[in-house]
Amino acid sequence: MAPSNRAAYLISAKKSPLEVKSAVYTKPGPGQITIKNHAVATNPLDFIKQTVGDLLYDWVKYPIILGSDVAGEVVEVGKGVTRFKVGDRVVGHAVGMAKKHNSPALCGFQEYVNLLTHMTSAIPNEIPYEMAAVVPLGLSTAACALFQKDQLGLQLPSSPAAKSTGKTLLVWGGSTSVGANAIQLAIAAGYDVITTCSPRNFDFVKRLGAISAFDYNSPTVVQDLTKAFQGRTTAGAISIGNGAAEACISILGSCKGDRVLAMATYPMDPMKMPKHFVMPRIGFTYLSGMASIWIKGKRNGVRSQFIFGDTLVDNEVGPAIYETFLPKALADGSFRATPEPEVVGHGLEKVQYALDVHIKGVSAKKLVVTL
Ligand SMILES: NC(=O)c1ccc[n+]([C@@H]2O[C@H](COP(=O)([O-])OP(=O)(O)OC[C@H]3O[C@@H](n4cnc5c(N)ncnc54)[C@H](OP(=O)(O)O)[C@@H]3O)[C@@H](O)[C@H]2O)c1
Repeated sequence: MAPSNRAAYLISAKKSPLEVKSAVYTKPGPGQITIKNHAVATNPLDFIKQTVGDLLYDWVKYPIILGSDVAGEVVEVGKGVTRFKVGDRVVGHAVGMAKKHNSPALCGFQEYVNLLTHMTSAIPNEIPYEMAAVVPLGLSTAACALFQKDQLGLQLPSSPAAKSTGKTLLVWGGSTSVGANAIQLAIAAGYDVITTCSPRNFDFVKRLGAISAFDYNSPTVVQDLTKAFQGRTTAGAISIGNGAAEACISILGSCKGDRVLAMATYPMDPMKMPKHFVMPRIGFTYLSGMASIWIKGKRNGVRSQFIFGDTLVDNEVGPAIYETFLPKALADGSFRATPEPEVVGHGLEKVQYALDVHIKGVSAKKLVVTL
């Protein structure tokens, strides 16, 4: 008999709180596994979708199950699956909101989740589920930015780390979840990393391997970073955080090397969307933001592209990270599950609370709910 399942549902586009209700248990399809979920982590995507409704992922039909980051135990394997067996401990990127996959069974905030095996990695016994759950969307977004050919196109990471390429990557926003993963991936791929964060997180990003860190709030940060890149060859930049893209373009514009920027953060803050005449004003703000980045990029000879953190699902980067790199790197300790988890509660009923805390801001922390 199939186990009973429950999920935290977003009922409508009208910014309603999540509601925990029974959900269908779906058997895994070919190339999928079903896990009993033991820990989930929150991402800005979850509270942004809850806040802006159909302005994002408008193809997903209500009621929606949010959630990308899950860790748990395999309870069933689909046809053709050889990498996993029942009882394995795994971490995975739940991709149920991705346009091509669009399925509630593949979404994260529920007790039983189906995962695509090429977006899933085994976790060693010494890493608890609540620690592993911090990884997926941050890692996937960083991997899309660094390794996809339409983004920075860097060489892939390995464990032990690849031989030095002699190039340096700029990670603006190194203490974010995406940034902390980008630092580690870049180093494993053979690149030096220079980053930005608040001074309280300088030690954190250096422990991850960044060679130097700069305060993104300093009035001289662009000049300071431009100086830090003198004598270096850049591999490009990933911009994370409000205002990051413009600053990165200024810096890359005076660097030797690859003038390519991957942007994680929209040029407009989706949490500050206008309340009246919404569509025309949002359209105008978004287009003018993108246009000003494009013009600045042209002037500085910098090519820039927005990242969609789930595109690796459908190209060679997904398996390269989740099948080849991550299981080995977690097992040998060369890759850390980071930022640190802060467990804010137990049970699906606590997921809304985690989103409410996350929306107020976190610093080098990932909010986790155990299940
Ligand atoms: N495009 C995509 O597919 C995709 C996917 C995932 C995330 N994102 C976006 O990427 C960004 C980060 O997401 P996340 O989950 O990694 O965030 P997060 O960990 O929740 O972000 C918290 C961190 O943001 C840092 N921060 C705040 N403002 C900043 C700024 N202006 N410049 C640099 N750092 C800043 C803070 O650093 P300090 O405490 O050190 O000050 C803090 O550590 C968000 O904008 C998110 O929407 C995009």
